[in-house]
Amino acid sequence: MEFRALRVSKNKQSKSGIEARIEQLLVDELTPGEVLIKVAYSGINYKDALAVTGYGKIIRNYPLNAGIDVAGEVVESTDPLFSVGDKVIANGSGFGEELDGGFAEYARLPAELTIPLPEGLSLKEAMIIGTAGFTAVLALHRMEVNGQNPALGPIVVTGASGGVGSFAVDILSKKGYEVIAISGREQFHPLLKSLGANEVVKQEELALSDSPLDAVRFGGAIDNVGGKLLGQLIATTQLWGNVASIGLAASQDLNTAVFPFILRGVSLLGVSSANCPMPLRKALWGRLGDDLKPDHLDLIITEEITMEGILPASFEMLQRKRHGRTIIKL
Ligand SMILES: NC(=O)c1ccc[n+]([C@@H]2O[C@H](COP(=O)([O-])OP(=O)(O)OC[C@H]3O[C@@H](n4cnc5c(N)ncnc54)[C@H](OP(=O)(O)O)[C@@H]3O)[C@@H](O)[C@H]2O)c1
Repeated sequence: MEFRALRVSKNKQSKSGIEARIEQLLVDELTPGEVLIKVAYSGINYKDALAVTGYGKIIRNYPLNAGIDVAGEVVESTDPLFSVGDKVIANGSGFGEELDGGFAEYARLPAELTIPLPEGLSLKEAMIIGTAGFTAVLALHRMEVNGQNPALGPIVVTGASGGVGSFAVDILSKKGYEVIAISGREQFHPLLKSLGANEVVKQEELALSDSPLDAVRFGGAIDNVGGKLLGQLIATTQLWGNVASIGLAASQDLNTAVFPFILRGVSLLGVSSANCPMPLRKALWGRLGDDLKPDHLDLIITEEITMEGILPASFEMLQRKRHGRTIIKL
């Protein structure tokens, strides 16, 4: 059986050294796995955009079907835990990096990385959430395990109009946190208020200083952009507050000093959704269909596209011309 996939291959002639194009594949050409699924939906994450455009070195085995998120229905399984017709999802865990991912009509998933569709979610809802929503929840989980609670003060969300940022705003607000959303794009400020932000500002409006320790202003932060802003948030976080570092949309750099850590007990928490252990991954997906299910999936999804639209949408995402979540119907 032949099917279509957005496959990324090495190409010495192209400037980036890679080329992504729609190809016909056979199931036997897919990376191995016990569970063959007919893919229903996937979604575009920043990492996918880097992978298919060649702007970032994400893929480790070429050629590979991109797409770190995947949701679909089982059509064949050699693992007794999964049967034909089961609805399943997978995210991170090497998909779209070293295992063939979700930008394809079929995917073969190793059983130990396959998650039954959580109760309370449809396949489409799971892919609107995707790695973006999962990462926001992973960050909140790490912060709360480390003592974060609404009484510590407002949580700043940076890169707020993006996929991770939008979900962070929605879910923090749902859990009773005061949320300060930072978005460089004023046209999305009303939308971020609708998602639950108490305040939406441009970075400049906060007038944060470059001092490595400054007056306390925030209970914690979920940061998608990195660079100077991340250091400024660490410098102004409350005693025992947590700053979750998720992304590098602005910069991979971080300048700070030890003062916030040794004088205020501030914690800088790393968040790596790709490497989240499976028991925690499954537990958090369960909560995404339950007490942490975002309230505004309809506002966060901005477009449903087909395979042909992935490459142009990825360039737009890297040029900061998209917001929320773009999902792909396969
Ligand atoms: N650690 C992990 O496990 C993990 C998982 C998922 C994503 N990530 C990372 O998290 C970040 C966000 O991912 P995403 O999927 O949400 O991407 P996204 O939808 O493109 O959102 C990124 C947001 O960052 C802001 N931004 C973009 N370029 C910027 C710049 N040059 N300077 C300042 N802000 C900028 C924009 O928000 P505004 O216009 O509203 O300011 C944009 O909407 C990415 O760096 C991604 O690689 C990490």
